[in-house]
Amino acid sequence: MNILLFGPPGAGKGTQSALLVEKNGFAHISTGDILRSAIKNQTALGLKAKEVIDKGELVSDEIVIGLVDEAITNLKNKSFILDGFPRTVIQSERLDEMLTKMDKKIDKSIFLDVETDFLIKRLSGRRVCKSCGASFHIEANPTQSEGVCDKCGGETYQRADDEADSIAKRLDVYEKSTAPLKDYYQAQGSLVKISGLGSMDEVYGRINEVLKA
Ligand code: AP5
Repeated sequence: MNILLFGPPGAGKGTQSALLVEKNGFAHISTGDILRSAIKNQTALGLKAKEVIDKGELVSDEIVIGLVDEAITNLKNKSFILDGFPRTVIQSERLDEMLTKMDKKIDKSIFLDVETDFLIKRLSGRRVCKSCGASFHIEANPTQSEGVCDKCGGETYQRADDEADSIAKRLDVYEKSTAPLKDYYQAQGSLVKISGLGSMDEVYGRINEVLKA
């Protein structure tokens, strides 16, 4: 089974993907993670993407479509979660074409619904490990020792795009470019909306119910 996890910035896509990888054995394809890794390694793509991401804008469709095509091809037949892709209708259309060519499909398009006030709180309190990328929250999921990753002992930091101006921009871009995907997947019959509120385990439980249905 292949699933698409989408929703506004801070809805919990990365958090739930990590649980689904750990407990259900999915492969995880996150365009945000791929782009941040390119920035960290200072590749040509990373240098190009950094400014756009820090401002809260979207990287070009062509770039992310190429990244996802490569990632899915490399997985061969493993079940996967797409997190953060697609986020424009063009990306959705190109994903469908790509999957048809590979004789694959998305079985469930799960939309994580979270109100804006909660999103802002989640994003502004997020801390991420510089070494392993694990994500924490200063209130909901704090590290045991401030600034130190519980998983690998690396240093945690606040993403540049989690500062107030970028958060506002990302929420705006989400409404204009990504929210229309709800209609796209509703029309295809794969859309399942679930609440992303409550504890991380509660949300994970809801996703599991969807996967079992
Ligand atoms: P990306 O990394 O994909 O960012 P995003 O979609 O904005 O999503 P986030 O990572 O911010 O949030 P999330 O939903 O994963 O939430 P998380 O689980 O971390 O993309 C970054 C940038 O890359 C984009 O802005 C764009 O520039 C570029 N990009 C990426 N993909 C692209 C594409 N396809 N096309 C074009 N450009 C692209 O949770 C957030 C916080 O909340 C954490 O601190 C977490 O601990 C906490 N939390 C999670 N769940 C709960 C809960 N249930 N209760 C309380 N706290 C919780």
